[in-house]
Amino acid sequence: MNILAFETSCDETAVAVVRGGRHILSNAVLSQIDVHALYGGVVPELASRRHMEVVAALTGQAIAEAGLDRRDIGAVAVTHAPGLIGALLVGVGFAKGAAFALDKPLIPVHHIRGHIAANYIAHPELRPPFAALVASGGHTLLLDVRNYTEMTVLGSTRDDAAGEVFDKVARVLGLGYPGGAALDRLAAQAAPGAAGAFHLPRPRVEGNPYDMSFSGLKTAALSLLNSARMKNEEVDRAGLAAAFVGAVCDTLVSRTALALQNLGYETCVLAGGVAANTHLRRSLARSLPGALYMPPAALCGDNAAMIGAQAWYEYVSGASADMALNGYASGSLG
Ligand code: KG4
Ligand code: ZN
Repeated sequence: MNILAFETSCDETAVAVVRGGRHILSNAVLSQIDVHALYGGVVPELASRRHMEVVAALTGQAIAEAGLDRRDIGAVAVTHAPGLIGALLVGVGFAKGAAFALDKPLIPVHHIRGHIAANYIAHPELRPPFAALVASGGHTLLLDVRNYTEMTVLGSTRDDAAGEVFDKVARVLGLGYPGGAALDRLAAQAAPGAAGAFHLPRPRVEGNPYDMSFSGLKTAALSLLNSARMKNEEVDRAGLAAAFVGAVCDTLVSRTALALQNLGYETCVLAGGVAANTHLRRSLARSLPGALYMPPAALCGDNAAMIGAQAWYEYVSGASADMALNGYASGSLG
């Protein structure tokens, strides 16, 4: 079945056509970075307006690039949670219209489930169960994925998301917005051993052993930069970037290794925008015992192909919505 999928939860307008959960027929993504860069972060109202301006044309483009006619679409899928509520509602409203006009089922998809499903497209042999680490601009979660539609959260960040702290430190380093990828590139330029000159804390979280915390680490890096600035001292920016990325990844990797060990799973899946981070990919590959699956960089960030992939499994398990479907700024994965 060909699923027409929509993703508008944040600052990417995305429409894709995916066949049978695993094959991308088209994957159109229109980033709004230029709209928000001026403000140093996503402006929710501007995001909603931009989604409205482009979603119809992008839909035509996605169907044409798939080489299909509207009548070849078997179902319509949309991210309904979590995300910016105004932005989500544009996608939900448009998808409802499309499903109604085509007289096809409407399938709501949780954004985080979609990120995980990017791996089903990239790795045909991948099947649950597995442990998943999902790290993005809004979420940092460790999950026990028992099957395609049943998963539980083992632990999560208690404060900032990993992508969020990458973006904040990148901004103070003058790398623009969103700075995660630029910080990754800067860290790669550090001289061997340069990161060792910076002493950043490894946060300890009481209680749930899978929970994480990144805001103390962020504050430590920012105050290091601040005090150097006040003393008019030069900072080795690449060294600091490498130390910071390394510290964040240490937490992510150690929690993921613990989850794998305790669950007794052989397989680990990485997902979300931060999954594009080269240091994280390398250290997970080095540290984890079993098979590690990661999406290619192009499917790490927000896209609609991942929503179309997950939608197939939601559909098979019997999930569908009617015209009363709403969007939700937060929503549980269960
Ligand atoms: O999943 P995503 O596209 O959007 C959300 O659902 O939030 O993730 C975006 C996040 C941003 O914080 C961005 O800076 C970060 O992913 N990111 C990276 C890299 N590429 C994107 N962080 C670290 N290293 C990268 N290479
Ligand atoms: Zn995302």
